[in-house]
Amino acid sequence: MNKLVDKYGRVYSYLRISVTDRCNFRCKYCIPTQHFEFIHHHDILSYEDIIFALNLFCKIGIKKVRITGGEPLVRKGITNLIGEIRKKNKEIEEITLTTNGSLLSKFSKDLKQAGISRINVSIDSLRTERYHSITGGFELKNVIEGIKAAQNEGILPIKVNTVLIRGFNEDEIIDFCNFAADNNINVRFIEFMPIGNSIEWSKDSVVSGREILDIISEKFTITKLEKHKYEGPSLDYRLSNGAKIGIITPISNHFCGSCDKLRLTADGKLRPCLLSDNEIDLKKAIRERDTDKLLSLIKDSLKIKEWSHKVSDHESIKFNRTMSHIGG
Ligand code: GTP
Ligand code: 5AD
Ligand code: SF4
Repeated sequence: MNKLVDKYGRVYSYLRISVTDRCNFRCKYCIPTQHFEFIHHHDILSYEDIIFALNLFCKIGIKKVRITGGEPLVRKGITNLIGEIRKKNKEIEEITLTTNGSLLSKFSKDLKQAGISRINVSIDSLRTERYHSITGGFELKNVIEGIKAAQNEGILPIKVNTVLIRGFNEDEIIDFCNFAADNNINVRFIEFMPIGNSIEWSKDSVVSGREILDIISEKFTITKLEKHKYEGPSLDYRLSNGAKIGIITPISNHFCGSCDKLRLTADGKLRPCLLSDNEIDLKKAIRERDTDKLLSLIKDSLKIKEWSHKVSDHESIKFNRTMSHIGG
């Protein structure tokens, strides 16, 4: 029985677990270039901690787990963790990974063996120079090779997350639609959120879902695909070139009413909303293996969850956490 229901009746069945705030990339909109402190090693949950907590989460309703970071593949032993989670929690319908893709060539085989269900890869530009510049000097071709390696292992579908930032990459929307069709990839365009970035966020930097669809419809015929309420925030479309694309609109048309996600940060805080700094610290209860206390704290986190985020009401809302702490 699902016990994770908030005061608005939303049911939580999806837990995103950030396993590290470290990343081999330095994406300009994600990790700030100045005053950035990594979480101390002793504050990071161990794999045993994560498995203990997840055991309880699964008993009370979690069915989908996403492993995120930072970059999850930089944490040693990550494929073993995924394998352990798979073995120990038969309730889990899907275990997925969000990654920058740079280490996929190395890890795809192990990920498949460990039982990963799907992978989402972040790519914000298809132009070599631009990709290099946004990621802090990394090569797009390694990521493309990594995606191919994952596809060859039968890890399907691969979704690509593309954050659109006005003045940076909105001129690549059509290129991404062609890339999706040519490579059998589902590309999702995400509105830029004001969280943890060194690129200045303003409402003007957001390329809205409406605008994205307008640009696409000048070139392709668009057919909307049906979806279930709890199938995630992306609105999906089939284009006349065969591509499947998705639009994620946290700013122009938020999807908080059907939110089914909780987020566990690498330092053991439960963050019920991505766009709110309200968090409940689970670390002590987890480390003391105190199931009753942990259950009560998880329930508290649902009490502090608001009906929706407040970003569109404020021009310059600031968050304490960066995206690399929370994992999207
Ligand atoms: P699928 O289950 O594959 O559709 O993926 P997902 O949307 O759960 O995971 P993914 O990490 O690929 O999410 C894509 C991005 O969409 C996130 O990194 C966020 O930028 C945004 N996003 C996803 N879920 C939420 C959410 O609940 N709230 C907000 N504000 N943004 C979200
Ligand atoms: N706005 C929207 N999406 C973001 N991501 C990271 N920072 C932002 C932001 N400010 C996305 C990345 C990655 C996922 C984990 O979060 O593209 O795919
Ligand atoms: Fe859920 Fe918060 Fe995202 Fe809204 S902004 S969908 S409440 S996580």
